[in-house]
Amino acid sequence: EQIEKGGYEHFMLKEIHEQPNAVIDTYRGRMLVNEGIIRMAGVDDHIEKFLNANRIIIVACGTSWHAGLVAEYIFEDLARIPVEVEYASEFRYRNPIITDKDIVIAISQSGETADTRAAIQLAKEKGAFVFGVCNVVGSTISRESDAGAYTHAGPEIGVASTKAFTTQITVLTLMALKLGKANGNVSASDYHMHLQELALIPEKIKASLTSDAHIQAISDIYKDSANFLYLGRGFNFPVALEGALKLKEISYIHAEGYPAAEMKHGPIALIDEQMPVVVIATKRGHYEKVVSNIQEIKSRSGKIIAIVNEGDVHVKELADHVIEVPDTLELLSPLLTTIPLQLLSYHIAVMRDCNVDQPRNLAKSVTVE
Ligand code: G6P
Repeated sequence: EQIEKGGYEHFMLKEIHEQPNAVIDTYRGRMLVNEGIIRMAGVDDHIEKFLNANRIIIVACGTSWHAGLVAEYIFEDLARIPVEVEYASEFRYRNPIITDKDIVIAISQSGETADTRAAIQLAKEKGAFVFGVCNVVGSTISRESDAGAYTHAGPEIGVASTKAFTTQITVLTLMALKLGKANGNVSASDYHMHLQELALIPEKIKASLTSDAHIQAISDIYKDSANFLYLGRGFNFPVALEGALKLKEISYIHAEGYPAAEMKHGPIALIDEQMPVVVIATKRGHYEKVVSNIQEIKSRSGKIIAIVNEGDVHVKELADHVIEVPDTLELLSPLLTTIPLQLLSYHIAVMRDCNVDQPRNLAKSVTVE
């Protein structure tokens, strides 16, 4: 097992550090930047289905559901196709409206999650076209889907999902870009610009990982907190949910993720000097609004840990701690802002002596209801 961990103390840490390569493996052979081509057989073979679809329904559970939420923002932005994101467990039992003009995308690392399987079964019965985004090759969901795309993240052993999340977002971004170009919603120059930016992401993930020691020091300060709040807006709202989930899963600290502006409708009542608030405050998209949210937290003595872009000045003045990630397109920023949140939960869990790779009560793959 030590050999499998490749010198890392835990699988989770290894998998966090594998993300630059995992993302490369995800787009290798699919994204040809110079030629300006995205090749995805599962989409190419059914392009008419995609171009004629009325909407996309994403079904998933857990972290994969969070990737689905990011994908909703990305698909609607780039491809202008309406997207709904559903918890598979809710979808399957609520008599959903599904037609043969719908495309159901099932996202699942394992490809074995019982609720997600049942959701695609239902979708198929109602005539929808089912597209699977799975990591495990040959898994049940990948076999039961009409078409699909693997994430090629490699085996993920840690129960808390890390590289599966970033590679799911990568695959879904490629799909959205491809469809946006095909249906005329993404201009040729925007398309190229996105491809070029996506190609830079692995190096930028590497740069984000260099904050590790700094994040470890922050973890030491807050490891005994009873609660955490995570805030983000736009593309980074689902990242806030994912950050909170990671902390809950492995450190057993109660954490809640919220869209930053919704804070005033509830969570703000919880803020006092005992409450660490992790705020994603990168430059592009809603920056000023998030800065004013940070001011509100500060005036109530909350402790602010902010994820910012390199060279940020405003947030630095207000926050108790800042963690820097490189700048990228707003739409791609979840691929970077997620990294420090994974490391934060990892270090806090280690400091609390928790079983990081196999947290209590959780399973890597939930194959029963
Ligand atoms: C379990 C795992 C999570 C995962 C979720 C969905 O809860 O512990 O890490 O996100 O199942 O799994 P899937 O394999 O369908 O992505």
